[in-house]
Amino acid sequence: MEFTLTNFRRADFETLWAIDQQCFPAGIAYSRRELNAYMRHSGSFTLVAELAKAKRKSLLAAGVSRMIPTRVLVGFLVAAASRRGVGHVMTIDVLPEARRSGVGSKMLGAAEDRLRAAGCHVVYLETAVDNQAALAFYKRHQYFLVKTVPRYYANGVDALVLEKNLHSAAQAS
Ligand SMILES: CC(C)(COP(=O)(O)OP(=O)(O)OC[C@H]1O[C@@H](n2cnc3c(N)ncnc32)[C@H](O)[C@@H]1OP(=O)(O)O)[C@@H](O)C(=O)NCCC(=O)NCCS
Repeated sequence: MEFTLTNFRRADFETLWAIDQQCFPAGIAYSRRELNAYMRHSGSFTLVAELAKAKRKSLLAAGVSRMIPTRVLVGFLVAAASRRGVGHVMTIDVLPEARRSGVGSKMLGAAEDRLRAAGCHVVYLETAVDNQAALAFYKRHQYFLVKTVPRYYANGVDALVLEKNLHSAAQAS
């Protein structure tokens, strides 16, 4: 998968919300209102993974569809840096067909760099206890279990709070 990381543009919002709906089950996926609130949260930023222009051109040339948009988004991440030097990853979403190609790792690494640059020494996030893919992904990226929050999600599923020290951990690929 050839892709590039770019900053969020206002026109991307509907696409990002649709990606989130595909990535999470009901009760965990955000409503438009929730996603908008997280993205506008103080200190927050959104990174977007875009299919490389060359790849888009080759899809057009192969006649896959004439309707391929100029900007094909395959994933995004929303994170925030607090004034206390604590980073929070609110969500990281990669479309199913783009997974296991390094998109999530690239976005997470870029977010951690940005949080470090904003003065964060630690980053935390929540994930569902039954989300095996996410747990393997975060383990690979040196996140450690801090605690369990019972019935954290609207569908009644517990969350695990994971954390990473941004200064002591070596960068995972
Ligand atoms: C979790 C998620 C973001 C990972 O994104 P991704 O682009 O597939 O991740 P990467 O390709 O960078 O994977 C890096 C490594 O993480 C681990 N990993 C990722 N997905 C995995 C899976 N389904 N099973 C086991 N290990 C996995 C592997 O070690 C992988 O390296 P490898 O492919 O060389 O074995 C993606 O699966 C996703 O969007 N899931 C739905 C939304 C979600 O659960 N988000 C996280 C909770 S907030």
